[in-house]
Amino acid sequence: MRVKIVTVTRRLPTAVEERLADLFDVRLNATDVPLDAWGLADALRHSDAVIPTLGDALNASVLGGPDVRARMLAHFGAGYDNIDVVVARTRGIVVSNTPGVLTDDTADLAMLLLLGAARRAGEGERELRAGRWTGWRPTHLLGTRVTGKTLGLVGFGRIGRAVAQRARQGFGMRVLAWSRSLTAAVANDAGVTACATLDQLLATADFISIHVPASPATRQLITVERLALMPRHAILVNTARGDVVDEAALVDALRRGIIAGAGLDVFEGEPEVSRELLSLDNVYALPHLGSATVESRTAMGLRVIANLEAFFMGEPVPDRVA
Ligand code: DGY
Repeated sequence: MRVKIVTVTRRLPTAVEERLADLFDVRLNATDVPLDAWGLADALRHSDAVIPTLGDALNASVLGGPDVRARMLAHFGAGYDNIDVVVARTRGIVVSNTPGVLTDDTADLAMLLLLGAARRAGEGERELRAGRWTGWRPTHLLGTRVTGKTLGLVGFGRIGRAVAQRARQGFGMRVLAWSRSLTAAVANDAGVTACATLDQLLATADFISIHVPASPATRQLITVERLALMPRHAILVNTARGDVVDEAALVDALRRGIIAGAGLDVFEGEPEVSRELLSLDNVYALPHLGSATVESRTAMGLRVIANLEAFFMGEPVPDRVA
């Protein structure tokens, strides 16, 4: 069989790049700079498969361009909202993702954001590093307790369930969950309470953590009205996708004390992040680090390879999404 040409759009862990080089005629991106539309179109024209990742805009105009040779997009990532899967399907391009292998690390990071925002860790660290700490005092940087409080999960897929487990078992939290498909029986099995409506969950929880995929149905799901439903002491955590939240409304709600704080790993226009958002002390923010462990990123790469191998062998692609 002819050696397949595979283009990778961003640097991957070395072990993954080495394995790819063993198996394919691989075109790596040594610069780690994202490809622009021209670069993506070129990769599609000159490869049998492309390994894209977050932020690679594989939209209708790129996928619908002339002379597309690639027959597969083996996406490096669980969320693939950067790919127009409808156009990919019509052009006969198979798309896969990497679910399951980043669940625990992303759930850990959601807890980190929840704790960091609740306990004002960002403010404390900034103060310490700036040499502004004047010593222990009884009223210094008082946060809010996490243990025993109520967590509301918006979305209850793999990551939402993993967060529920940590919150219940590690922090004795009561966990509520809402998703369009969640049944009381599934919720019961996981030891959480299913809310009939999203609004009911938002109005009840002390902490709210978002775990829905980005899609037209979830775009700006958290609107100005929904932020207003949350208790004033509520803290919103987002490790899913930035555009699930109306970010301008969030800035306003945080500034005016409509909610108490936010722990954010994802942003509407990332890697550009609103200066206004970052200027707020009640925001604990990280640069999209949900799956950023050696273990997750290596496992994601190996899933990509398993999907590619299956595709080229003519076998069912394990993580096929289109
Ligand atoms: C994904 O895989 O979708 C994550 O956002 C990467 O951390």
